[in-house]
Amino acid sequence: MEVFESIKSLQQSLSAIGQNLTIGLVPTMGALHEGHLSIVRKAQGETDRVIVSIFVNPTQFDKKEDLVNYPNTLDADLEVLKSIGCDYVFTPNIQEVYQGKTRSESFDFKGLDQVMEGKFRTGHFDGVATIVKKLFNITKPDKAYFGEKDFQQLLIIKKMVALEFIPIDIVSVGIYREDDGLAMSSRNTRLSQEQRLAAPEIYQTLLKSKKLFQNGDLAKVKSFVKNEFIQNTELNLEYYEIADSETLKSAKEILADRKYRAFIAVFADKVRLIDNIALN
Ligand code: PAJ
Repeated sequence: MEVFESIKSLQQSLSAIGQNLTIGLVPTMGALHEGHLSIVRKAQGETDRVIVSIFVNPTQFDKKEDLVNYPNTLDADLEVLKSIGCDYVFTPNIQEVYQGKTRSESFDFKGLDQVMEGKFRTGHFDGVATIVKKLFNITKPDKAYFGEKDFQQLLIIKKMVALEFIPIDIVSVGIYREDDGLAMSSRNTRLSQEQRLAAPEIYQTLLKSKKLFQNGDLAKVKSFVKNEFIQNTELNLEYYEIADSETLKSAKEILADRKYRAFIAVFADKVRLIDNIALN
């Protein structure tokens, strides 16, 4: 496994890869867990060489506190990536990527960024798309891999490559969960013991809401979820939304030919957790 901090040295090494071999990119912010590794494994199964980038991207954080507290476990990350046979790791610093201009580009995501994570985290998706576009330009992969854990992010990236005519295949990977159903996240390590015990309720509630969804009464589903969290002393609901899986527009009625997903964001004190589930 080769580890690079500079764009130039990474690109030099990548240019030695044969033209007929394919490259897969897995962008991450580090603090790697099994969810990340499941993506790397999928990329390894589908491409000849895999690059994992580890970069905590400042422009996508709307709260400074979240950025400062973002876990850094670089040594352990490199160790585990080596153990599963990752080929390249790119760990640039801020200057290398942003060249002194730590600012987001503005994108028009055609409304995909106006709801849920985009609504509650101002500028978040411009920041995400800015860094991902830079990583695409730097590494020029054939395929890039993103988790459904951040489903809205996945759609935003797909929109970005379509709008910018970027010839990269965007591949999605299902949500990897703990045994108790909690979606794996780098933020889970910041939960107290009590919060960690309470956290599986997020997925449990999504599952129950999926069942209720079959009855077709959207208002009932939403009020059920609200109630579940009013009764929970460790978790505070930020939003629960039922949206069209392609447009992310809030569902007003259930149309037979559309796919819907439920999206949730919850605070355990200051730790923000998100999850989502396909409803039909
Ligand atoms: P990060 O939160 O490190 O996530 C990296 C990738 O892992 C994302 O595609 C995310 O959706 C996926 N992922 C995280 N937890 C997962 C889980 N439990 N199951 C499946 N996939 C999971 O997302 C980011 O970083 C950043 O926004 C990034 C795209 C790297 C841009 O900075």
